[in-house]
Amino acid sequence: MKYYIGVDVGTSSVKVMLIDGARALKTVSRDYPVYYPESGWSEQNPEDWLSQTLSAVSELTADIDKSAVEALSFSGQMHGLVTLDENDAVIRPAILWNDGRSEKQVDYLNNTLGKSFLLDSTGNIAFAGFTAPKVLWMYENEREKFDRISKIMLPKDYVAYMLTGSFATDTSDAAGTLYFDTEKRSWSREMLDVLHINENMLPKVYESDECIGFIKDEIAASLGFGKVKVIIGAGDNAASAIGTGTVEDGSCNISLGTSGTVFVTSDSYKCDRENAIHTFCSANRKYHYLACILSAASAQKWWLEDITSSAYEFEKAAEYAGKSDVMFLPYLMGERSPVNDTKVRGAFTGLSMNTSKDEMTLAVLEGVAFAFRQNIDIIRSLGVNITKSKVCGGGAKNRLWLSILANVLNITLQIPEFEHGGVLGAAMLAAKNCMSAEEYAETEKAFYPVIREIYPDETLVKYYDEKYRRYLKIYPAVKEIK
Ligand code: XUL
Repeated sequence: MKYYIGVDVGTSSVKVMLIDGARALKTVSRDYPVYYPESGWSEQNPEDWLSQTLSAVSELTADIDKSAVEALSFSGQMHGLVTLDENDAVIRPAILWNDGRSEKQVDYLNNTLGKSFLLDSTGNIAFAGFTAPKVLWMYENEREKFDRISKIMLPKDYVAYMLTGSFATDTSDAAGTLYFDTEKRSWSREMLDVLHINENMLPKVYESDECIGFIKDEIAASLGFGKVKVIIGAGDNAASAIGTGTVEDGSCNISLGTSGTVFVTSDSYKCDRENAIHTFCSANRKYHYLACILSAASAQKWWLEDITSSAYEFEKAAEYAGKSDVMFLPYLMGERSPVNDTKVRGAFTGLSMNTSKDEMTLAVLEGVAFAFRQNIDIIRSLGVNITKSKVCGGGAKNRLWLSILANVLNITLQIPEFEHGGVLGAAMLAAKNCMSAEEYAETEKAFYPVIREIYPDETLVKYYDEKYRRYLKIYPAVKEIK
């Protein structure tokens, strides 16, 4: 028996999973705090990621033959800025992916340096969440600290560095920095110059399934392990794709979580120059498109819990399907993909004296589905053929929402048996490095079963196609109202 460990360095907690190549055996998680020192700021202590990872891994492996642990790998929250001085001490708390302090730097990058320059050098435009604007913010606002930087790294790479002493990252996470050439899979010299970064401050770049070294002897001894390989792993969305089986050209995974994501794997590189859809490297040496919808399950929660104080019962809402003119723009927190507009807000349209709460509930679910459709249509326009998609996240428990989504997107939806995408993907990357191609194919077979499929209904597909055309007119109208 051989064991593999996945470590998902998330935003609210670290989750670890033990697999044996065919079964998920155990998961453990440990929380850590997020600090909000100023409005819109979001920070964490890298030391917390490390200490909680070690504590979680120790509990995870408490009852097994520890000498059978072969390898460990990572999934990580993306884009966070971690800076170390020449003694490897953390210079300042990590600035996280959901931190909005760098609006001025984003404006400089997108509008003075220019989107064309960014797209040509990296494949993406700037967002406050990405790492590059945070580096510039630190240069402009904390110059004394900036001048002490010896190493710049991403969240999971900090934990990997502390475990192994190997200064490494992977192509999927590096692509989220905005100083990495996604197409060429190497650091972008042009962007490093813009950001005052020397390449020797940056980690060596690996593919996600590559080994960067072994857990240091003293740490391995304290965990009771023998020699354990460390495989660098991937950013959380790319790792989830490995965990959900979104690995073939054109395969799609939709996450209906608090926010929503669309992840589409592509064998070839193409970048979308007009919209806020990201092009990153995938964890299986290909590329992927990633669209982020800021309010997905959170829009449902806002409407049912905060506004109407209703139960999550959708039978009455379902009665309006196919016959309602009410529509909802789900931009409750602005929107990232595809409009990249932090200031716009949500709206209902088509309300009348006859409109009921249940009809508006339906409109909320439909509005989020239309937001997914807009992103998927843009990815389709890049030449990717999408006919089915996995769906995961809390919203995937709502059957009405799934049938709306299947009809709005006109694709078959598949519910995977294993829900823990990121941490499972990390454990599978560890296994992949240690297995032959044949053995790993068996592991994929064991972890990729689909437990349910939802098919589109031709009549409703037509109905939603027409309603979607009308939905597309809401944003241009609403954004004029300031
Ligand atoms: C991706 C993104 C998030 C973070 C948080 O672009 O911002 O998915 O990785 O987990």
